[in-house]
Amino acid sequence: MTRAALLGGPRAVSHPLPQWPRIDDETLAAVVRVLKSEPLCPVGNTGIQGEFEDAFAEFHQRRFALATNGGTAALMLSVHGAGVEPGDEVICSPFSWGASVACVLQCAAIPVFADISAQTLGLDAASVRSRITPRTRAILPVHIFGAPCDMDGILDVANEHGIPVIEDVAQAAGGFYRGSRLGSLGAFSAFSLQASKNLTGGEGGILVCDDREMFERAMSHGTHPQRLIAELELPEFRRRIDSLAFNFRMHTASAAIAHTQLRHLDGWTEIRNQNAQRLYAAVRDLEYLEFPPLPNPDEGSRHGFYHVPFLYRPGVLPLDRDQFVAALEAEGAPAGSYVKTPLYLRPRLRAHDYIGRDFPWCLGEGSYTYQHGDCPVAEAICETEWQLKASFHEPLPELIDQIAEALRKVGETADEIAAASAGFAAVSRSGEAGT
Ligand SMILES: Cc1ncc(COP(=O)(O)O)c(C=O)c1O
Repeated sequence: MTRAALLGGPRAVSHPLPQWPRIDDETLAAVVRVLKSEPLCPVGNTGIQGEFEDAFAEFHQRRFALATNGGTAALMLSVHGAGVEPGDEVICSPFSWGASVACVLQCAAIPVFADISAQTLGLDAASVRSRITPRTRAILPVHIFGAPCDMDGILDVANEHGIPVIEDVAQAAGGFYRGSRLGSLGAFSAFSLQASKNLTGGEGGILVCDDREMFERAMSHGTHPQRLIAELELPEFRRRIDSLAFNFRMHTASAAIAHTQLRHLDGWTEIRNQNAQRLYAAVRDLEYLEFPPLPNPDEGSRHGFYHVPFLYRPGVLPLDRDQFVAALEAEGAPAGSYVKTPLYLRPRLRAHDYIGRDFPWCLGEGSYTYQHGDCPVAEAICETEWQLKASFHEPLPELIDQIAEALRKVGETADEIAAASAGFAAVSRSGEAGT
């Protein structure tokens, strides 16, 4: 049997990972063209930024789009635009990147966490319902790894209570839910265009929405007065034009890159799905793996596959999840685990220590403790999830087959890895005892 790469054996994966972001001649030409002919600091829906915003809004069948310098900024403006005020509560997912909650805190609002569904890894509608209070002002589902949330269930709860939904689509551009693009269903939808994302500008973000009042409220909080003078129509927001807004402008080069990439997004998403399905099919017999259910294409749903997620079934191999992932990485697979700790168990949140003085919790009306056991499904998934972190946007049968081989090999060499790590642990314990 071949030796584990972690113990000095040959790596199972020799095929290079695809280059991402894809910077081809078309992208370079677009960037050079705008750098030579347009202002580097666009302050309106003009030039390449205007073209990108209009194309992105049309792609998602939305009335309005606002480009920003990051997904966090797009989320924060969406939370503000949705009418969330200091001390209000926003229902958040505990299984995400911190920005999905930082955007709420930055609006001086209070995150209240609902549990996730083991099917979608996004917010569970029944749990969301159980967290609604008279102070809930928004619900913020995250399409994590590109997997569509149960939008029907979440929108039902939201509509019953007249609460806006803000979709965090940072990881899910290109995905669909029951015939609708992810990002076309919430009152607001916010995307990240950071370099690793399915659609990228290197850095950047963009929000979309359909309601003029919400859009103008969002825009007035993060845009240059020159743009506000040109584009705001409602007196309520025209009165607020000054230079007190955040500067969340996108760079011209980011708009050129993202605009070029948008034309390819659907094709890439299709290939990402094919690669993920090839891999899942090749390793489905491995008892130490579990597979999050895929959205049903017959219902018009499609995964965005920002990452290819798996769950690790403990107790089958003599390795814990982190040892398993380390062994896989050593084999050359781009493996990692993502969330590890639900957001509400992060020390700063538990201690109400964001910008100091118990702010924004001191503005709320509840007690707002964040405890172990608050969201049991999320806690369990954090223990077992891991994923492949790469963009599989090209046909890659050889790479996929090598990754499948690596997954199999870690299982076959698990005993020797476990024995070696027990040996390392014993040596380091005796070393500690001697100091
Ligand atoms: C789910 C999620 N939301 C929001 C963000 C924030 O986006 P950005 O890094 O562009 O600010 C990210 C970034 O990784 C993300 O993964």
